[in-house]
Amino acid sequence: MNQKHTNKNLQSSYLNALKQSNTQAPPIWFMRQAGRYLPEYREIRKHYSFTEMISTPDIVTEITLQPIKRYQFDAAILYSDILVVPNAFGLHFDFIEKKGPVLRNQVNVEQLKERLSHPYDISTCDFVFQSIIQLTEALSSYNTPLIGFAGCPFTVACYLIEGHSSKIFSSVRELFSTDPDTMHFILQRLTDASIDYLTRQLDAGVDAIQLFDTWACLLTPSEYRDFSLHYIQQICDALTAYNKPIILFSKHSQHFVEQQLTLPIDAISIDAHYSLEDARKKVGKGITLQGNLNPELLLGDVSTLEFTVKSILNTMKNDPAYIFNLGHGILPPTPLDNVQRVVDLVKHA
Ligand code: CP3
Repeated sequence: MNQKHTNKNLQSSYLNALKQSNTQAPPIWFMRQAGRYLPEYREIRKHYSFTEMISTPDIVTEITLQPIKRYQFDAAILYSDILVVPNAFGLHFDFIEKKGPVLRNQVNVEQLKERLSHPYDISTCDFVFQSIIQLTEALSSYNTPLIGFAGCPFTVACYLIEGHSSKIFSSVRELFSTDPDTMHFILQRLTDASIDYLTRQLDAGVDAIQLFDTWACLLTPSEYRDFSLHYIQQICDALTAYNKPIILFSKHSQHFVEQQLTLPIDAISIDAHYSLEDARKKVGKGITLQGNLNPELLLGDVSTLEFTVKSILNTMKNDPAYIFNLGHGILPPTPLDNVQRVVDLVKHA
């Protein structure tokens, strides 16, 4: 372990909440907080593709800091994407307006298997580790921790197998139902590369790791255990020596919470379909909860927004293990003033 930039003296309500010991107002940050709702983001985005932006450490640093400067969020998240890891196997995604991620050279399952059977090269992601080194330096003057992240192997596999975004990822179900060995091979290779990728992020200085499993919701509980949980467990086990908090995000997944509690994780990020009150009852006190304002409420009527934020704050009042966040990423048409309203309410709670 070769940690270059540890922020040992960081006083952070976010990190305290992850140790179940926050005594201040709940920390707040938003998934996708550095994104298209910010005019200063759109200004840079006009000149570059998303891939160019996330591959350039100076741009990553500037964009990651934008929401910190504007709203003083309590944590920064690396500006990047969960679909960077496949670069290590020579598999690249393009991000296309209105279509989302599309595999640059489409592959069938046989070709995908062949690609993944070669040794991977994590140095193809060096721009990520370089960005983190720059960012930890820049963030020290804001006294703000940096969240690193990766997609969970199942969610990343969904995009690789389907080749693009989908609501149902039918070819993924087809593959794991008819050829589970190939599915497990794909998941294991992605797990190995993700462990390396996250280890390098930790070496470069991130303060916490969030794992994104958006598409776990496609699975039944026993499929979840075999095709997702098993691999998340390997990732968590491999990172324990770093003693840095791990947060697990998944969508529409309240029925998986009991299984998730068997993982050595510090926090669960829940979406707007579950109530924080019920989640707290279910998980007990020993684990941090993050969430779960519906991002669509930021687009609508201000009084409904304020009412909902206040009722979340009331539910989680004096909870030392709570982080205010959205249930899913902030939406591009979100008005800036509504973000400010939420930040003000949470910071003054
Ligand atoms: O939270 C953050 O701000 C950190 C950076 C981050 C991004 N994507 C930036 C991004 C993180 C952690 C992600 C995670 C991610 N990416 C997930 C899991 C979480 C979730 O949202 O469900 C998934 C499934 C992806 C894959 C992905 N990347 C999709 C489906 C899309 C297209 C949809 C969209 O929002 O445009 C992306 C592109 C993407 N990732 C953008 C950003 C800021 C948009 C880039 C742009 O066009 O400017």
